[in-house]
Amino acid sequence: MQRVAWPKPQFKGATSIRFAIANQDVPFTQNYVPQRYAFKSLGYFPNFAFQYIASRKVNTVGSKNKLKRFKENESFGNVIQPSRDQLIQGQFGIKGHWANQLFKNDHPIVLELGCGKGEYTVALANRYPEKNFIGVDIKGARFWRGAKTAIENGISNAAFLRIQIELIEHAFAQNEVDEIWITFPDPQIKYKRTKHRMTNSFFLERYKKILKPDGIIHLKTDSEFMHGYTLGLLHGEGHEVLYANHDIYRQHGSSDEVTGIQTHYESLYLEKNKPITYIRFKIKQS
Ligand SMILES: C[S@@+](CC[C@H](N)C(=O)[O-])C[C@H]1O[C@@H](n2cnc3c(N)ncnc32)[C@H](O)[C@@H]1O
Repeated sequence: MQRVAWPKPQFKGATSIRFAIANQDVPFTQNYVPQRYAFKSLGYFPNFAFQYIASRKVNTVGSKNKLKRFKENESFGNVIQPSRDQLIQGQFGIKGHWANQLFKNDHPIVLELGCGKGEYTVALANRYPEKNFIGVDIKGARFWRGAKTAIENGISNAAFLRIQIELIEHAFAQNEVDEIWITFPDPQIKYKRTKHRMTNSFFLERYKKILKPDGIIHLKTDSEFMHGYTLGLLHGEGHEVLYANHDIYRQHGSSDEVTGIQTHYESLYLEKNKPITYIRFKIKQS
C-alpha cells in the first residue's frame, strides 16, 4: 500500500502553531495574541507579514512535533493515508477490501468520523475484538496518538485513515460499513458553514452510500445546536431515530459504550459541566 501525504502541509496557518519565544516554551496564545491583535487593529498589518516576523523571532515547537508524528504515521501499519487523487481516480486499492486486506478477517467495519486523537476508536476496538474500527480524520498529528496507543497495546482491530470526510465514499465501497460514530463534530453554527456540518443531508447521503442498509449512525455532541439540528433534519427527512438523549450522564438509558468512553473533547466539556447528548439513527433507504 502506497502511503502519500496530502500536498498541503497540515500545519499551515499561524492560528494553531505554538511558538517558543526566545528560549521559553510559551504557547502562542499567551504571548503573541495581544501583539497580533494590536497590529490587526491598525487595519493594515497583513497576516503573512505577521507570520514572517514571528518566524524570525521564534521556533515552531508545535510544527516540529507534528513533523515527527507525520513521519511516525508513515511507519505505522495501522495508518492509511491515500492521496486525494488516488481516491478520486478510483486507485485506492483497499476500498471494498478493508476487512480482508488490512485486518485479515471478515469482521464488521465500524468508523469513527472526525476521530481526533482516536479515543473512541481504540476503546471500542479494545471492547469488541470481533469488529474492526477505523478512525477517520484529516489531522494526522492528532490520530497519531490513537494509532500509537493501539500499536503499543497490541490492539490489531483499530486503524486510522487520513482523508477529508467529504471523500468517504471514495474510500469505502457500497455496503462495506456496518456502523458510524460521529464524536463531537464541529457544530458549524454559522449559516455559511452548513455545508461542513457532518450531519447535513449531503453527508447523510455519503454515509448511506457506504453503510449497509440496516447500518447505524451514532452522534455524540456537547452542542445543543448540533443535537437539535440533527434531530430536526432526521425527522424532517423521514430517517429512523432509534434513540435520543439530551443529557446522557443525568438522563439514564444510554448504553455503556455511550457513557463509558470519553473522547478528548468530551472530557473538556465535562469539566465545564456541559450536558452531553446522543442520537442513534438509521438512514431512510428509499
Ligand atoms: C472537535 S474535533 C473532535 C475530535 C474527537 N472526536 C473528540 O471528540 O475529541 C473535530 C475533529 O474532526 C476533524 N474534522 C472536521 N472536519 C473534517 C473533515 N471534513 N474531514 C476530516 N476530518 C475532519 C477535525 O480534524 C477534528 O479532529
